[in-house]
Amino acid sequence: MQPDKTKDEFISTLSHEIRTPLTSIKGFSKTMLDNWDKLDDASKKKFLNIILEQSDRLINLVENVLSIAKTARETEIILKEINLSKLIKNVCDIVKINYKNKDFKIISSTMINSMADKDRLEQVFVNIVENACKYSSKDSDIEIRIENKCDFNVVSIKNFGSYIEEKEIEHIFEKFYRIDNYLTSTAQGSGLGLYIAKMLIEKMNGNIKVNSSKEEDFTEFLVYIPVMEPERMTQKVKIQANKPREVTDV
Ligand SMILES: Nc1ncnc2c1ncn2[C@@H]1O[C@H](COP(=O)(O)OP(=O)(O)OP(=O)(O)O)[C@@H](O)[C@H]1O
Ligand SMILES: [Mg+2]
Repeated sequence: MQPDKTKDEFISTLSHEIRTPLTSIKGFSKTMLDNWDKLDDASKKKFLNIILEQSDRLINLVENVLSIAKTARETEIILKEINLSKLIKNVCDIVKINYKNKDFKIISSTMINSMADKDRLEQVFVNIVENACKYSSKDSDIEIRIENKCDFNVVSIKNFGSYIEEKEIEHIFEKFYRIDNYLTSTAQGSGLGLYIAKMLIEKMNGNIKVNSSKEEDFTEFLVYIPVMEPERMTQKVKIQANKPREVTDV
């Protein structure tokens, strides 16, 4: 695809994504102003909640777009030793603010630190853990496992009650891509979270893999983070959707 075409497509999708919540904010504000005396308190509260929800959607979109621009500009990633268990607990606390009914079961079996950029890694996990809460069945727990596999620490984030078809897996990491199903139609989003997560994790020499099963009714994201600087790594992870993970020598 030509760079200009990519840019044009980005701008037109972005405009659409901005216009939708703005139209709704404008529409509900106008309805309230035009009918203030006729509306009961319950309706006013309902409309204000929609305005608030749509404003949150806009804020989230702006933050995601800024984050893409920032990542494209600032190519420098500062790799430092990170304690993953601590970082994941912090991410769960952040996500829980908006998903109070969710419980996180964290099992960690590695004491080995990861080599990553702390803030960016946190952003990767916030996006993935937030999705696990957003697209799973109400009140189901989120299971998070942290373990070591050769040159990588692997974090698995598993949720129940959502299924991603194999043909969709390669697309969910694309800019603005949202699967057209009942899960996405009932949850808000702009389709940028996983695009950003993949871009950041690749900059840190890691990768993301997805497993999902219709029969067992779960979706699991596996995030591979190196435990050492790239020069010292002797292995790489071969990532294939819904296939067993393979670690191969370089
Ligand atoms: N855990 C999951 N279970 C089922 N579907 C998922 C899950 N995570 C992501 N998806 C699907 O992948 C799509 C892309 O996810 P992504 O995080 O990039 O965007 P979003 O959540 O729609 O919006 P944003 O993250 O920008 O607010 C989602 O719209 C959803 O269809
Ligand atoms: Mg998301």
